[in-house]
Amino acid sequence: MNVDLNFKYKNTLEFIERNAPFEPEVAIVLGSGLGDFAESLNKIKTLPTEEIPGYPLSTVAGHKGFIHFAEYSGKKALVFQGRIHFYEGYSISDVILPTLIAQKLNSTILLLTNAAGGINRKLKPGDLMINVDFYSFFIKKELSLLLGQVDVEIKNRFLKFPAPNVIKKIKEAADWLSLEIKEGSYWYTKGPSYETPAEIRMMKKFGADAVGMSTAHEAIVANYLGMDVGAISLITNYAAGISQTKLNHEEVIEAGKLAEKKFSSLLLEFLKRA
Ligand code: HPA
Repeated sequence: MNVDLNFKYKNTLEFIERNAPFEPEVAIVLGSGLGDFAESLNKIKTLPTEEIPGYPLSTVAGHKGFIHFAEYSGKKALVFQGRIHFYEGYSISDVILPTLIAQKLNSTILLLTNAAGGINRKLKPGDLMINVDFYSFFIKKELSLLLGQVDVEIKNRFLKFPAPNVIKKIKEAADWLSLEIKEGSYWYTKGPSYETPAEIRMMKKFGADAVGMSTAHEAIVANYLGMDVGAISLITNYAAGISQTKLNHEEVIEAGKLAEKKFSSLLLEFLKRA
């Protein structure tokens, strides 16, 4: 990596390693309004992010700042309740810090979740969508500055998204619960504002199914670090111009709340199988 993350986050990583009660097999990052899944887990230890040296603080409504070490059905999990976004003004290395922490604690699986706007008409608010691919070019420059020169073997790793074993487990969990789960491509935008209807028309023409402001960079870096990565979107709204109503952040949080039960049960079933 161009940026020496081990040096930059030395205190942060040391603090977390010192306070980790176990090595989590699976790490999960919870997206906007999805934080309440954490309530269903047997939490062994919780670290409030504001007490972790050098850890960026989430400034976004709907994003609490906790790192939970939790157990469910014999599985050890690391759950990030609260995400760090590029649009909050943080650097790319801050944004991928949870990914780095998960890897340092030897998690082999990373499940990223996000709230997204539905572009494809087949996606309506409350739907779940496995991210089968990303449009991530808006973040390539920052990733190059972070990762620097990578060799061919590492370049090829980027193409392994999503990890088939992770997707298989998500689908098995959804089947078990008789939950419908759709699939689609996620268009990453830096934000901070929601898109304009014209931008959404363009994304639709290029084949994107949903749009959001997270996940793609975390998935790329996790691949770089050798983890198996999967991602799920909760569609919280129709993207700009897809429906007549103006979208707002409160609507995104509200949709998260409504779909919370469904989403939590899916993640719990996934954990059982992970
Ligand atoms: N656009 C971008 N990010 C989002 C959206 C959206 O419509 N909904 C939830 N996150």
